[in-house]
Amino acid sequence: MDNSYTHGGKEATAYEEHRKAYTGVVDFFLSHIKSNNFLDAGCGTGHDLLEIYRRSGFRGYGCDKSDDMLAKAKVKDCASELRIADLDKEFPFDRIFPCIYAHDLLHHLKRPQFFIANSNHHLTDGGVLLIGTETENDLRVKFTSVYFPGVLEVDLARYHSLVKIEKAAREAGFSKFETETLSDPVAMDEAIMNQVRTKSHSVLGFIDKKSFQEGIARLQDDFAAGKLAKMPWQYTLMTATK
Ligand SMILES: C[S@@+](CC[C@H](N)C(=O)[O-])C[C@H]1O[C@@H](n2cnc3c(N)ncnc32)[C@H](O)[C@@H]1O
Repeated sequence: MDNSYTHGGKEATAYEEHRKAYTGVVDFFLSHIKSNNFLDAGCGTGHDLLEIYRRSGFRGYGCDKSDDMLAKAKVKDCASELRIADLDKEFPFDRIFPCIYAHDLLHHLKRPQFFIANSNHHLTDGGVLLIGTETENDLRVKFTSVYFPGVLEVDLARYHSLVKIEKAAREAGFSKFETETLSDPVAMDEAIMNQVRTKSHSVLGFIDKKSFQEGIARLQDDFAAGKLAKMPWQYTLMTATK
């Protein structure tokens, strides 16, 4: 399927207002970051760069293919340098990093193997590529899959499997590969409801109007009835070491 999704002004505003840094994911990145010399690939509006700066004082490097996303990241003044780049086609920095991370980026890429190989070239020996993504199991339990008809099929078609990612990492020259799953039920709150209403979950931009309206109506009913106190949430973190 066509996994291109427009990350323009509307999406950047929705991300800025409703996306947040996920503590467990940032903890994982921070456990590998020792200086300003790290790259946030597909940094979006810079939520993770800002959280890392607040918690460690380190100003990393960031890149994204969307001008609108980068404009919002720049305002946060938390990075050493931010550059525009389509990671399916290019790598924006000449420098070598000990750590590159990609949080919710890979399913937007048509050629993840190209990005993974480029990352390998731009890592120090022993450096790490950290990937935050969702596996088939993670996607199956996700509330968007449960509430919105058609979402799971779209997501399964655009997310790259762990097997495919690991194969690409090995072919790119990474020697060690580890995965862990964060599993932490979340309570649905107004912030998450607003992410849904504004389609901050990009998959909601792929389903038809009727499926979206059907899903949001069921979700809002259950939310209003207090039925969404514990929604399953699973997320997979991978470390590929050069
Ligand atoms: C789901 S958002 C994640 C943003 C950020 N990593 C975060 O977790 O808040 C995906 C980001 O990837 C960017 N992106 C999508 N395709 C890209 C590409 N080919 N090259 C670079 N960035 C891309 C989008 O513009 C968007 O900002």
